[in-house]
Amino acid sequence: MKYDKVILVTGGCGFIGSHLVRYMVNKYPNYYIVNMDALTYAGNMENLIDVADCDNYMFVKGDIRIEEDVFGTFEKYNITDVIHLAAESHVDRSIKNPNIFVETNVMGTLNLLNAAKHYWTGFPYNLEPHRFHHVSTDEVYGSLDMNPDNKFREDTPYDPHSPYSASKTSSDLFVKAYHDTYHLNITISNCSNNYGPNQFPEKLIPLVINRLENGEKIPVYGKGLNVRDWLYVEDHVKAIDTIFHNGANGETYNVGGNHEMTNIDIVTTIIEVYEELTGKDINKKDVINFVQDRSGHDLRYAIDSTKLQTELGWCPEETFETGIQKTIQWYLDNKKWMENVTSGEYQKWIDTYYNK
Ligand code: NAD
Ligand code: TYD
Repeated sequence: MKYDKVILVTGGCGFIGSHLVRYMVNKYPNYYIVNMDALTYAGNMENLIDVADCDNYMFVKGDIRIEEDVFGTFEKYNITDVIHLAAESHVDRSIKNPNIFVETNVMGTLNLLNAAKHYWTGFPYNLEPHRFHHVSTDEVYGSLDMNPDNKFREDTPYDPHSPYSASKTSSDLFVKAYHDTYHLNITISNCSNNYGPNQFPEKLIPLVINRLENGEKIPVYGKGLNVRDWLYVEDHVKAIDTIFHNGANGETYNVGGNHEMTNIDIVTTIIEVYEELTGKDINKKDVINFVQDRSGHDLRYAIDSTKLQTELGWCPEETFETGIQKTIQWYLDNKKWMENVTSGEYQKWIDTYYNK
């Protein structure tokens, strides 16, 4: 079959990537989706078992840090478009080991940009039909105060604080530079915190669920008053699809759930929904453990997604109430998944970071 596009999705075995790959493979039988993933601790082929045998899907084990892996994949599959998600994605890990964040998030992105520039030739005139969509984070904008009128807009200056957000900022700037300098057809999305099934339990929401399941204490940094804007992962995937297809060349779009919550409210909500779903009785005071704050901890993230909503017609469909219920239920129904991902490397992380 002749496909209309051959899209390289990087990091498709991770949390957001696996939801995106499934969505694209099912929605677009006329596209061939090549998922390149290095299968780090965060990548899990099990996440995509249901599409593994689809005709329009191909998994390639490859590392974006390795130029030959990237160029070889472009060459072999005649890649026409890129949706780039592969990254080191956890702030706490970036504080412990910043270097790999530069290697993957900056140098890896550069390898992809160079391959796109090389293979989508005809410089500068024939680049238009090929799109490079870069999936980024709201953390590049830094931290907000508690004034509810203040939100991140697309023109908010970059002001990253963690090694993770500094590396994502750098990758965003390289993507923009390749647009300005080499006329690469690019779009960037900067999204708020995602939650949903298949999220690795180093991140707050699955970590809390996992701790409840194991009867362990829940570490809440500082006073638990930092604020995040939560978006259900499927809504992020739909936003990426919309921007990839309809976003204007060279533009950035902010994606957010318009659902701000403090960490302590997130934790107590999860405990309450968990109690409802399992019939268990949890004493919040016993399980919540206020621990030393994260270094450089951003106080508040909040997204103004007016541009995406008014120009491209996207808006979040899932409410937090239904989304968090579905998420907790998924983890309860998929204990084997949690068991598999929480052995080995995960245990090492927990031991060095939390049990030090
Ligand atoms: P994740 O950590 O769950 O998955 C990352 C994936 O990338 C894994 O499958 C991993 O194996 C792969 N990967 C890592 N290094 C690689 C390399 N060198 N070569 C190839 N593959 C590699 O991350 P996620 O939460 O799904 O985030 C995906 C993207 O979305 C990231 O770019 C992240 O910055 C961005 N983002 C995440 C959130 C969020 O809340 N999780 C919010 C906004 C933006
Ligand atoms: P996280 O899921 O790591 O996402 P991010 O740092 O990218 O926003 O953390 C979400 C919030 O939860 C953040 O303010 C830090 C806090 N947090 C805890 O209080 N305890 C924990 O064990 C973790 C992992 C996070």
